[in-house]
Amino acid sequence: MPRVLVLHGPNLNLLGTREPEVYGHTTLAEIDQALLDQAKVAGATLESFQSNHEGELIDRIHAARGHDDGLLINPGALTHTSIALRDAILASELPVVEVHLSNVHAREEFRRHSVLSDVAVGVVTGFGPSSYRLGLEALLDHLS
Ligand code: DQA
Repeated sequence: MPRVLVLHGPNLNLLGTREPEVYGHTTLAEIDQALLDQAKVAGATLESFQSNHEGELIDRIHAARGHDDGLLINPGALTHTSIALRDAILASELPVVEVHLSNVHAREEFRRHSVLSDVAVGVVTGFGPSSYRLGLEALLDHLS
């Protein structure tokens, strides 16, 4: 049974009320429940963790090393800046799928670059909550 860790970065706890014109009305709890249901149907186990703190996300990735089989991550704004998160992902030696609710390529210039994408198996961006669903499907495919 593959074990998947889902990580949500800064400000994603506010989903549902945060800039709904960009991120929609679905809450993080609803996204996590849908992922849990999807994992169950696919015969995988899944745990979710959100933090507004870079170090906490890094600690969680360290704990995943040797415990989980793959990571699904929406790093929020850390996508564009965090070499520390990138290094933690590399150190984990786990396959990672990066997801974004919005299409980061259709927004401000500074969102077009991810410091993580080149160490990810792949990226899903722009499909709202479906980005997570598609990302999990792709990660489980990759693991099987
Ligand atoms: C995001 C895109 C990032 O640029 C932004 O900082 C976020 C959310 C997304 O899911 O679309 O916090 O990762």
